[in-house]
Amino acid sequence: MSILIGDTAPDFTADSSEGPIHFYDYIEGSWAVLFSHPKNFTPVCTTELGFTAKLKPEFDKRGVKVLGLSVDKLEDHAGWAKDIEETQGTALNFPLLADTTGEVARKYDMIHPNADNTLTVRSVFVIGPDKKVKLKIEYPASTGRNFNEVLRVIDSLQLTAKHSVATPVNWENGDDVIIAASLNNEAAKAKFPEGWKELKPYLRIVPQPKG
Ligand code: BEZ
Repeated sequence: MSILIGDTAPDFTADSSEGPIHFYDYIEGSWAVLFSHPKNFTPVCTTELGFTAKLKPEFDKRGVKVLGLSVDKLEDHAGWAKDIEETQGTALNFPLLADTTGEVARKYDMIHPNADNTLTVRSVFVIGPDKKVKLKIEYPASTGRNFNEVLRVIDSLQLTAKHSVATPVNWENGDDVIIAASLNNEAAKAKFPEGWKELKPYLRIVPQPKG
């Protein structure tokens, strides 16, 4: 059965480049990003891991724990980490799971047998502090992901969690947002006393709430 948005993220225990990880203990109370890459010592993965390490301060700022996964061995993670630092200019600064049995990958449907029978695709899961899956994206092995987009979605999710708003097409942090459909006008007035721009009764625009 596949993991869908809104489902509880499966728990697991696995070895990682920073020691054994019990997932629920690791993410306790935090947002988390769990992402798979197909294989160590491959070019696209090397760029992705280096860039994600570079973004670590941005994830920290948002209270997000980052966790990578491949089905490669722990020893291979150590050797590859040196290449990542050398070629991408940033050392690995988050744990990489060594899911050699594919147990975690199977729990998260990261192996798509018609793409490759053993290697994972490029999956990303954003998981909330309630351990529910908030975002799921999947890319093929040949296409590197845009981790700035992952951050953008986290900004949107965290805003929504706090302020009863949704974010429109191509929204970037700081842009106007949409009052959630779940708020009727009376409830919206209490939350947004300055008012809003109403393009349609279902499309009410407000400046991005602060804080
Ligand atoms: C890569 O990271 O470049 C890659 C990994 C697995 C299959 C194809 C490409």
